[in-house]
Amino acid sequence: MNATRTTGGSYWIETAPGTPYPPLDVDDEADVVVVGAGIAGLSAGRELARAGRSVVVIDAGRIAQGVTGHTTAKLTALHTLAYDRLLRTRGAEAARMYARSQTDAVEHAAHLVDELGIDCDWERVPAYTYLCDTNRTGELRAEAEAARAAGLPAEFVAETGLPYPVAGAVRLADQAQFHPRKYLLALADDLRTHGGQIYEYTAAVGLEEGEPCRVTTNTGATVTARDVVVATHYPIFDRALLFTRLATHRELVVAAPIAADRDPQGMYITPELNTRSVRTATAPGEDGQRLLIVTGESFTPGADDTPARFDRLAEWAQQHFPGITVTHRWAAQDTDPTDQVPLVGRLHPGASHTYVATGFGGWGMSGGIMAGRLLTALITDERLPWSDLYDPTRILSTVRQAPAFLRHQAKVARHFVGDRLRPPQVGGVSDIEPGSGAVVRVDGERCAVYRDERGEAHAVSARCTHLGCLVAFNSAERTWECPCHGSRFDTDGKVVQGPATRPLSPRKV
Ligand SMILES: Cc1cc2nc3c(=O)[nH]c(=O)nc-3n(C[C@H](O)[C@H](O)[C@H](O)COP(=O)(O)OP(=O)(O)OC[C@H]3O[C@@H](n4cnc5c(N)ncnc54)[C@H](O)[C@@H]3O)c2cc1C
Ligand code: FES
Repeated sequence: MNATRTTGGSYWIETAPGTPYPPLDVDDEADVVVVGAGIAGLSAGRELARAGRSVVVIDAGRIAQGVTGHTTAKLTALHTLAYDRLLRTRGAEAARMYARSQTDAVEHAAHLVDELGIDCDWERVPAYTYLCDTNRTGELRAEAEAARAAGLPAEFVAETGLPYPVAGAVRLADQAQFHPRKYLLALADDLRTHGGQIYEYTAAVGLEEGEPCRVTTNTGATVTARDVVVATHYPIFDRALLFTRLATHRELVVAAPIAADRDPQGMYITPELNTRSVRTATAPGEDGQRLLIVTGESFTPGADDTPARFDRLAEWAQQHFPGITVTHRWAAQDTDPTDQVPLVGRLHPGASHTYVATGFGGWGMSGGIMAGRLLTALITDERLPWSDLYDPTRILSTVRQAPAFLRHQAKVARHFVGDRLRPPQVGGVSDIEPGSGAVVRVDGERCAVYRDERGEAHAVSARCTHLGCLVAFNSAERTWECPCHGSRFDTDGKVVQGPATRPLSPRKV
């Protein structure tokens, strides 16, 4: 069965207006330049403009259309099973700071929605982490207890609003779901009202640190600023080797209209089945209808079975919410810090005016808003009690954090070496079917070759321009993806997503 007969991509992009910001074509200067306009960059830019700083925001594409334009947009301090793990690896105080900072972000967003009158389908709902395996309810009880110890009013419950049985769940009341692009477009307006400038289709390509700093861009123009915020999702400037501590996972999303009286009245996530996450959103223009949004199938970029994964996710949605028809599907990826805490603060140990926000681990709605507030505090010389927790220059503070770090290094090494030893997927260029791609060996070099629907071959080097791992073809999205840190390229080698900033070189086949 092909369960993903679909019509649309990201619902958030489809249902919010486009943006009109021009590229930067002359040199500019500001107190702060923010590189990257997702939820982290726009939150930081808007907070800084409100704090009286002159701000320039640049984005390589359109604002709020990166990962944030393809998210699920649950805004909550309950992050699957984070608190029990935090308690064990970083201690009680760290768990408490995490809970406080994430709750502060949820409440700050609520305050802005109210203050600015933002029409972003804001809804207060409970968040649940659930498991169906009756042997694992101990994990839920431990998480509820750890979250409570961290200061959250979480509880273990046996019943949820889901239409299928669960073994139990952790419930945190009064969280929120919203339309992330409507929210961020309003923040962008407010930023401009406070004197900020936004430039789209302007990619940062170089950073000179100093007093002031200088960001060079692909348009040829530069921005000179006292402070620089790197909010490009995966950091493109990385003197602190953050890539050694950041893994990447990609996830799929399907959405389907559902009768309003079947709304499960909450936001749900389970780590089972390689993650299943459920929420609903308003479905404009359709009386008595909501949109069910289901996310899951977490995998390393470059996996060659993405179409099957989409089908599996849609089938799961249809089995658990019978009668629905999937109308949208999209995908995105997030970065996972090896110690499970986002990296927000100084870009490297010697940095005095450069900052980064990354590693949201699937929870960048509250994380991005938290980052905006934390970076603003650092730049305006205030101190928030949780700044040490998120400091990117922290070292792995306990031996218990080491295994995840080593696993990430081993995985990257396996791809770097192993992918080169593996026999090519097809014998030669002529074996590649129209509409598909494969890595083949041409004159001793691995080339990434895509054959378009007309039969024409598009060949580029298969060597990722970030650190040299070999890319692999994602046939559902028709992109070349790097399994090491998640760089993505279109079929002509152009960068779709970093950390790579240079295209794959063209090859003749
Ligand atoms: C499928 C999925 C579902 C998720 N669901 C949730 C959820 O329900 N709740 C939650 O809290 N989190 C969720 N997350 C996580 C959350 O969506 C992300 O953590 C968050 O959106 C990341 O925001 P960002 O601002 O860091 O990145 P982005 O939104 O990607 O913004 C980065 C911006 O930088 C720009 N950029 C990149 N390179 C350059 C350059 N060289 N120069 C200039 N600009 C550049 C990009 O164009 C982009 O606009 C989910 C993630 C995924 C993958
Ligand atoms: S993304 Fe790092 S090597 Fe490709």
